[in-house]
Amino acid sequence: MLTRLIYSSENHLGAAGGKMIRDLNDILDASARNNEKAGITGALIFDTLWFVQILEGERETVSATLRRILADERHDAVTIIDARGIETRLFGNWWMGLGFLRGDTTALYRKHGLGARLDPRKLTGDQIVALALDLAATGLNRKVAVEAA
Ligand SMILES: Cc1cc2nc3c(=O)[nH]c(=O)nc-3n(C[C@H](O)[C@H](O)[C@H](O)COP(=O)(O)O)c2cc1C
Repeated sequence: MLTRLIYSSENHLGAAGGKMIRDLNDILDASARNNEKAGITGALIFDTLWFVQILEGERETVSATLRRILADERHDAVTIIDARGIETRLFGNWWMGLGFLRGDTTALYRKHGLGARLDPRKLTGDQIVALALDLAATGLNRKVAVEAA
């Protein structure tokens, strides 16, 4: 059964800099590699304080991925925001890799009822999906993280 899971977590990557960019790219590399093989689609929204991730795929595969992610010390306080069975994927064949470090997301955040910063505590699962789809449409993707290095 197809499932969409949304969680937030506290980012432990530390201050913006070379190590943080390397850690983020390591996460994006592992995600791209594993998720493509496992048929997982979705988005990873990154901010200096937070991760917010959407995982779509077969229920067992999403759960196995979540178990790996839960054990990862690069973040903490994983909080499930939404988990539901779905008929179709919203994120198609576009898998992980939405990391952004630039200031030009402010207008988008405002549109989605946020201040200048991402704060997942203020968002429902549906709002997170809408934000992620908008962010994806801007073309912000893993290249942004690489360019910022
Ligand atoms: C916020 C966050 C999101 C992650 N998302 C994924 C993911 O979607 N898929 C994945 O395979 N690993 C993800 N990881 C990495 C896993 O925790 C783990 O390091 C990785 O799956 C190990 O893969 P490997 O055994 O192929 O190196 C994520 C880690 C963090 C901190």
